[in-house]
Amino acid sequence: MQKIIVPLKERSYPIHIGSGLLDSLGAYVREALGEVTVAVVTDDNVAPLYLSRAVKSLLAAGLKVKSITLPHGEETKCLARLSDLYDFLCHARITRRDAVLALGGGVIGDLTGLAAATFLRGVHFVQVPTTLLAQVDSSVGGKVAVDLPQGKNLVGAFYQPDLVVIDPDTLNTLTDEFWRDGLGEVVKYGCIGDAELFSLLEAAAPGGRAALMGQIDVILRHCVQAKADVVAQDERDTGLRMTLNFGHTIAHAVETCQHYTGLRHGEAVSLGMHVMTRLTEHKGLTEAGTAVRLDALLTALGMPMQLPPIPEENLISAMFMDKKSFGQGLNVIVLNHIGKCFIHQTNVDFFTGMTTL
Ligand code: NAD
Ligand code: GLY
Repeated sequence: MQKIIVPLKERSYPIHIGSGLLDSLGAYVREALGEVTVAVVTDDNVAPLYLSRAVKSLLAAGLKVKSITLPHGEETKCLARLSDLYDFLCHARITRRDAVLALGGGVIGDLTGLAAATFLRGVHFVQVPTTLLAQVDSSVGGKVAVDLPQGKNLVGAFYQPDLVVIDPDTLNTLTDEFWRDGLGEVVKYGCIGDAELFSLLEAAAPGGRAALMGQIDVILRHCVQAKADVVAQDERDTGLRMTLNFGHTIAHAVETCQHYTGLRHGEAVSLGMHVMTRLTEHKGLTEAGTAVRLDALLTALGMPMQLPPIPEENLISAMFMDKKSFGQGLNVIVLNHIGKCFIHQTNVDFFTGMTTL
């Protein structure tokens, strides 16, 4: 069992990581929040697998429990389902001293977090992430949101959880698709700040998912610690937190041009890291040999290495329409070498030729 603290100015919070922790969930919630009512939010894939265990543990700790199961998938991260959650929380008579608990992936975490941030102007919030992506990324750091028809994550808030409980055993039931999705973000942490994690992944990758699961506690600790460190220094995403976007500028452009079909987000991030590092190595910004090493790991992990056939000018214009671009400029994350990165200001010309390297 491992415990990582996210040290924030206003309020720090613990992240517990360990095999089987789902059965101790109630004890952690009670320790952190006292004798509260817990409103559990989950989806229809996760509910048959883990809801009864979570509820049993909460009840065993003497807590009152209500639950709601929503349809799975990104479509659930919308205003209509947020409104359904408000109905549920009213019906469950949740007060400001009570808690809302997200049991599921990033979709359930983001939606439930926004409900927690806004219902009664804020109730307690617990994250119990069950996908690799949610365990290493979305459950930590307090970004909560829903999508609008006009775009992803357009309505949201910064609202930190009171507690995160991560049980890596839940990853055993993930499909290979969603497992690979999370791996994109795991490799990202190795690239931007953790050469030791990158080496561990290089050693385990040839053994496939089983070998990586054999090291999952260490992998999760590295990733969660990295995210906690960045969030502690830049909670509101005004500087350092931008480094978490390594590979994401090109990824978002690919996703936009493909209307979010074809590739999972983690696969797009993987392609983004691959293309960006080849480009910046070519420009002399990144140490020679970095791209070959990154490509070898991504290939061993089964990540796609070929950009979809999208005209380069379409990709570039999508990048500069992204909400993170300013005027003609765009900040991107560039690797010095594996384990170290910097923020680099670019313009449109920077990306010319990126699809042909
Ligand atoms: P998801 O929540 O849709 O989960 C993926 C799929 O796996 C779903 O079908 C879900 O039902 C299923 N599932 C979840 N846990 C399972 C388990 N243990 N076993 C079997 N199936 C399981 O997607 P995701 O990839 O976890 O998250 C993506 C979302 O996260 C996006 O909306 C993205 O915008 C958001 N996100 C948020 C942040 C943040 O900082 N808040 C960061 C990255 C991504
Ligand atoms: N997923 C990026 C962030 O939390 O800032």
